[in-house]
Amino acid sequence: MKKVSYKELGLSNTKEMFKKAYSGGYAIPGYNFNNLEQLQAIIRGSVESKAPVILQVSSGARKYADPTMLRYMALGSVEYAREHGSNIPIVLHLDHGDTFELCKSCIDSGFSSVMIDGSHLPFEENIKLSRKVVEYAHDNDVSVEGELGVLAGIEDDVKSEHSHYTDPAQVQEFVDKSGVDSLAISIGTSHGAYKFKLKPGESVPPLRFDILEDVSKRLPGFPIVLHGASSVVQSYVDIINKFGGKLEGTAGVPEDQLRKAAKSAVCKINIDSDGRLVFTAMVRKVLAEDPKNFDPRKYLGEAREELVKLIVAKDTNVLGCAGKA
Ligand code: G3H
Ligand code: 13P
Ligand code: ZN
Repeated sequence: MKKVSYKELGLSNTKEMFKKAYSGGYAIPGYNFNNLEQLQAIIRGSVESKAPVILQVSSGARKYADPTMLRYMALGSVEYAREHGSNIPIVLHLDHGDTFELCKSCIDSGFSSVMIDGSHLPFEENIKLSRKVVEYAHDNDVSVEGELGVLAGIEDDVKSEHSHYTDPAQVQEFVDKSGVDSLAISIGTSHGAYKFKLKPGESVPPLRFDILEDVSKRLPGFPIVLHGASSVVQSYVDIINKFGGKLEGTAGVPEDQLRKAAKSAVCKINIDSDGRLVFTAMVRKVLAEDPKNFDPRKYLGEAREELVKLIVAKDTNVLGCAGKA
């Protein structure tokens, strides 16, 4: 594939975006997508709420959508926004990159930001790998997100049963030596729709805001990232189960806790599962209610319209980034 800079695609890196989010007390969403309809919904929702947006692609999503197709989908989303009179900054970001080669390939194909997730490696190796990515990325004016501490759940090719909270004593050395532009930390969130195992009557435990506070004191003004931040909206789980699904014991991060995090040093909040739930709920509903239907524009179209609503609601009520672009 021909090398292209994200600047030629009209994308932005995260530098200015995070500076404004930090001082403004809000966070930028990192919304994952895998297909055209999800991308359309994210862009339309962001244009509607006048919010900056980070479009996230995991390595699995990149394989699914195809790297070349993706480049032009990103370009298409920028042009869509501009044609609709919107100047919102749009970032194309690699989520949970696990090798230098993958990060380089994304940078060369037009990504404006990459995550190098060395969180499963010993500390020094995480620094070394992150540093290598930073050197190549910064030569291309691309932003880099690193991670310290491990979230439980499935992170694409990286799997962990248990979470290890970030050790605040390590963050300054990690950031100084690796040169990353933002840092994902582990404070009790996890990936997927089963974040907390609750007994009947129990409510979700609070996130470790003490760790977040300690980290931000040690890294003044530095952007922090929160992964695994879906709220697992119950109304969509209910629709899925009503129309033949079987999602039991789901639990997500309450919205008020995310809002509190967004007002602090957290400048980026990652949301994937909530979008998946919306899509699955609407596809199940449309097909169950109209079993004769076999037009993807009907069931994917309904899913897309519902996802636009979710994006606007998240930007407005959770991230606080609506109207900030
Ligand atoms: O953190 C992981 C994201 O939700 C991406 O998931 O690897 O299944 O695309 P995926
Ligand atoms: P959720 O599974 O909570 O949506 O988290 C997504 C994420 O962190 C992507 O990197
Ligand atoms: Zn993640």
